[in-house]
Amino acid sequence: MKGIILAGGSGTRLRPLTRVTSKQLLPVYNKPMIFYPLETLIQAGIKDILIIVAPDHAGDFLKLLGSGKEFGCRFTFEIQDNPEGLAQAFLIGRNFIGGDQATLILGDNLFEDDFSSAIQGFESGGRIFAKQVPDPNRFGVVEFDDQRRVLSIIEKPQQPKSNYAVTGMYIYDNSVVDKAASLQPSERGELEVTDINNLYLKEGKLDVAFVEGEWFDTGTFESLFAATQFARRQALAAQPDGG
Ligand code: DAU
Repeated sequence: MKGIILAGGSGTRLRPLTRVTSKQLLPVYNKPMIFYPLETLIQAGIKDILIIVAPDHAGDFLKLLGSGKEFGCRFTFEIQDNPEGLAQAFLIGRNFIGGDQATLILGDNLFEDDFSSAIQGFESGGRIFAKQVPDPNRFGVVEFDDQRRVLSIIEKPQQPKSNYAVTGMYIYDNSVVDKAASLQPSERGELEVTDINNLYLKEGKLDVAFVEGEWFDTGTFESLFAATQFARRQALAAQPDGG
């Protein structure tokens, strides 16, 4: 299993914080944001990790993370010239993935859950993770039928059919590379990971699991602040005297 952290994009919603740096380098309590998704992959046993960054701050990521040796990993870096969609990660990462399976995590997502068993027990198809949220229209949303079977995944629906958001953690078999290559850009001009999920769903190979612990997409000031408070509670609780 290979790991990919997607840490590009322009971070426009967080300006002026992101005017001179990348969103995923911003502090979340006592660590740069990207450390959290990185630690989630490492905790799950993934050691071969591709980090995809935007051109502007590529050098800063390299300086921060290095070869990966310090983390007991091997890091590879690639540049995404333009933010043309999450699914582009699998095209940029084609050579890196080779014939393996791939787990994608978004560089601005912070999870409390341990994904070790979800990743190590993964066999084939696609596996995504949903979480109930109060504002599903900000996310990909899972639509269920009466029997709780998944009907479709809809990207940022105006009238969400459920309050289950798709979180930024995706586990796929090797067919994800060809699926990504078959996509057309959406109306907003991006290759959508939601379209990849719907391709797996059509094949009857999409497994929707649920996130049990806290989850933050730190793309807004409010969610960045909430994530910082959560990270602080976790860090203090981990101290020998419990903070
Ligand atoms: O956080 C989960 C959500 O992430 C999912 O529910 C949605 O289905 C998915 O589309 C995505 O929605 P966002 O609105 O959060 O996507 P955003 O454009 O903010 O990109 C997420 C992260 O990926 C962000 O840190 C920037 C980075 N990114 C984004 C794009 C479009 C890239 O590195 N390259 C890109 O081309």
